[in-house]
Amino acid sequence: MAEPGIEEKRKGAAPSAGAAQKSATLQYDGKSYSLPIVEGTESERALDITRLRQDTGLITLDSGYGNTGACRSSICFIDGEQGILRYRGYPIEQLAEKSSFLEVAWLLLYGELPTPERLTGFTREITRHTMLHEDFRRFFDFMPKSAHPMPVSAAAVAALSTFYKEADTEDRVFRAIVRLLAKMPTIAAYAYKHSIGQPPMYPRNDLDYCSNFLYMMFATPCEPYYVDPVVARVLDLLLILHADHEQNCSTSTVRLVGSSQSSLYATIASGISALWGPLHGGANQKVIEMLERIALEEGSAEVFLRKAKDKDDTTRLMGFGHRVYKSYDPRAAILKKSCKEVIERVGASSKLLEIAMRLEEIALEDDYFVKRKLYPNVDFYSGVIYQAIGIPVNMFTVMFTLGRLPGWIAHWLEMRKDPDTRIGRPRQVYTGHRERAYVPLDQR
Ligand code: CMC
Repeated sequence: MAEPGIEEKRKGAAPSAGAAQKSATLQYDGKSYSLPIVEGTESERALDITRLRQDTGLITLDSGYGNTGACRSSICFIDGEQGILRYRGYPIEQLAEKSSFLEVAWLLLYGELPTPERLTGFTREITRHTMLHEDFRRFFDFMPKSAHPMPVSAAAVAALSTFYKEADTEDRVFRAIVRLLAKMPTIAAYAYKHSIGQPPMYPRNDLDYCSNFLYMMFATPCEPYYVDPVVARVLDLLLILHADHEQNCSTSTVRLVGSSQSSLYATIASGISALWGPLHGGANQKVIEMLERIALEEGSAEVFLRKAKDKDDTTRLMGFGHRVYKSYDPRAAILKKSCKEVIERVGASSKLLEIAMRLEEIALEDDYFVKRKLYPNVDFYSGVIYQAIGIPVNMFTVMFTLGRLPGWIAHWLEMRKDPDTRIGRPRQVYTGHRERAYVPLDQR
């Protein structure tokens, strides 16, 4: 198959966007097929294989979808080689410094930064919907106290579809979005309170989004709780940094489940389940467990890294490596900077941060990591901050859920409006038995 612009590459010139080929040719079984090339706004190019099977009988095989564009999207742009991340064109560094989570949520959902009036109205709507239906409180009573808050949150979000109507009109879609963003922190805090045997705290509408969440997590009916504005702002920053990341595992899950026109609540619950895994959002919990293990048992970062490089050992350096980033994850760079400030501000121990920084330092000079372009990802430093601000370890991935929620919904909205959307249904290369005759039980 001819690569786009291959002639120019052979002559040593970088193919310019203007000179890009509009199609590539596939030679197969004595015939030639022309495959159109689609180009995105950042000059990313893709072979359009929509007619491949129809025309040639072939399908593509791409384990882990590393080379597969599943949709066109205008929400998030990542350049993994350069370490660039933008939401709707705005650099993550600028949003992290100047914006707020609810402002970013609006941006992701509706494509533009909100006007002050829109942001005020949106914030008001979300604030008014933070309470859970009283009957819903009983839902948590049926969960074992030892349950991880991630499956509890996933089940609770799916259960919202039993309380609220299907999002089948534009007005109901907006209500469902508001409900999800408003109730997710309450669900998360209730799941946590249930796990530690404390009564849930009702949300407080006089507090901002993150302060209210911290209040529901840490206040008790017996004593007042003061929300440190610095801690609330750090939490807001963490949510902004996690808000979207194009077609990652959980977002692709949301698109796949949503493509069957399943309920929005059930669709988001599937995203939460996908996020839970240790190779995805669950990595932040694994990072802190790894750092604690190094502090307690392994003794030194060097010993741990030797294990992570050993092919006969399943140990991985958690919080390192990424499917898309082949340079420093810009989110990790922002978090590394805040780590020190937060730890100093709240007076937490810096022991784990020191181990993390030592691990990073030696990994970035180690041939194994250099050759494979493995750098710290967002999860490498987020856990250190969560721990410093008092978030329990088993809630780390739930925090990721709070952040990723607007991104998932934005992709669901985009998919719903895209005329090219069809139900997601990949093919396979079958490697099982060919037809064989059934053998009755008494003859086996
Ligand atoms: N420690 C040690 N070796 C690693 C690591 C790691 N963290 N990550 C990748 N490698 C090696 C891997 O063994 C393979 O080596 P070889 O070529 O010799 O077989 C090579 O690097 C390529 O790795 P891969 O697993 O094929 O890469 P992938 O794109 O399929 O996986 C990843 C990406 C993020 C799942 C993986 O890097 C990993 O498991 N990292 C640790 C878990 C983690 O931090 N996950 C959070 C990701 S960021 C948050 C999010 O978006 O969810």
